[in-house]
Amino acid sequence: MRILARQCVTADGYVTTPDGWPPQVIDPAHGPGSHGIREFIAGCEAVVMGRTTFEPALTADRWPWPDLKVFVLGSHRTPGAPDDVVFDSDPVRLLERLRADNSGRDVHLVGGPSTIETFRALGAVDRLELVVLPFMVGAGMRLTESLDPATTLTYESSRGLPGGSVEIVYSLRA
Ligand SMILES: NC(=O)c1ccc[n+]([C@@H]2O[C@H](COP(=O)([O-])OP(=O)(O)OC[C@H]3O[C@@H](n4cnc5c(N)ncnc54)[C@H](OP(=O)(O)O)[C@@H]3O)[C@@H](O)[C@H]2O)c1
Repeated sequence: MRILARQCVTADGYVTTPDGWPPQVIDPAHGPGSHGIREFIAGCEAVVMGRTTFEPALTADRWPWPDLKVFVLGSHRTPGAPDDVVFDSDPVRLLERLRADNSGRDVHLVGGPSTIETFRALGAVDRLELVVLPFMVGAGMRLTESLDPATTLTYESSRGLPGGSVEIVYSLRA
């Protein structure tokens, strides 16, 4: 099992819009499977994220993670969350539950930055994938507000995506 963090980031370096949404949602190219997520998610069997990232899914037009097991790091279970979503307040215990459930395919670490840093500090993140979006927003949250800026990134690959984004894959393993 590999844990793959993947974040969309604007050309001026923000992982949220000024009002806190993932910036890809305001990209004209946004839609089901856009920004390379269809191919990426095809190799995954589960997603893991922080409670802040999870909660908007409960009021979304469609459930964002069909056919994937969902694990959430958070101090409490969000009212209205489907019964099969696993919540845990302890990141080590949540990792153990992820591993116990895993059948060998990848896990998408959706974010946000504080949850990526939590798992990175535990040595659990195999890759950081950035999708650089072709526009700027001027303000928002930066990855390194939480993620340790000293994190070592080893380049693995890159490719252009429809709509003008660029995917860059880094290994976090030495
Ligand atoms: N650009 C992208 O692709 C992308 C992707 C996903 C999310 N985002 C953005 O990221 C933002 C949220 O990021 P975020 O970093 O503020 O929040 P987050 O990581 O989504 O969730 C934070 C919550 O996770 C729990 N948590 C995190 N670390 C923990 C630890 N060490 N121990 C116990 N619990 C822990 C806490 O829950 P409790 O409060 O319950 O204790 C914490 O409040 C959103 O605005 C979202 O739009 C962007």
